[in-house]
Amino acid sequence: MSDSFDNIKACVFDAYGTLFDVHSAVGRYRERVGDDAERLSNIWRDKQLSYTWLRSLMGRHADFWEVTGEALDYAMSSCRIDDPALRDDLLNAYLSLDAYPEVPAVLAALRNAGQRLAILSNGSPAMLEAAVQSSGIGDLLEEVLSVESVGIYKPDPRVYALASERLGVTAGEIAFQSSNAWDVAGASSAGLKVAWINRFGQVPETLPFRPHAELRDLGGLPALLQRNS
Ligand code: LAC
Repeated sequence: MSDSFDNIKACVFDAYGTLFDVHSAVGRYRERVGDDAERLSNIWRDKQLSYTWLRSLMGRHADFWEVTGEALDYAMSSCRIDDPALRDDLLNAYLSLDAYPEVPAVLAALRNAGQRLAILSNGSPAMLEAAVQSSGIGDLLEEVLSVESVGIYKPDPRVYALASERLGVTAGEIAFQSSNAWDVAGASSAGLKVAWINRFGQVPETLPFRPHAELRDLGGLPALLQRNS
């Protein structure tokens, strides 16, 4: 399966859920949120994603900051929480989400092995810039690519094509890493070589656009790419 990863010329990462822990936002304010903290965080993330798909289908794009705020409003209302100060704190936490623990070392190892590294994300440029700076991985990345350049969300194929265009490589020369199974399907459908970072032990999607490898976290990625270089 991992033979697919020969002739890789760039390593491209999804941001939220893959490099950055989206649940670290609510995690920081767990006491203020109360008993529904986990539920709030899950509803927030689910709505954030479904609003991107709905807006894309409706031709009503708004950037990920706005969508993330709208999804938070829905989640807070679902959990019967009315607290504007908490709302601001939760949304602002998106600017400094925790990176998963293995991320800095894995990116550094890939760079030392000569890989070109980039992010390809739904996030707005300002959100991504803030999260990248706050986690200290900015110097390791050649490009931080936002869907704002194409004005539509993943999994529209124009988003994945942006990575090839900006990096000057073909889709098949990109190793794309995402923990989001639907994003994995989108990237695979668009012709990228995809490693599913199955952080949450999910079952695979039954869409016919499969990952080319599956890892529990990013720790195994340098070895996967080295084996095939
Ligand atoms: C992103 C979403 C999928 O970073 O989490 O693009």
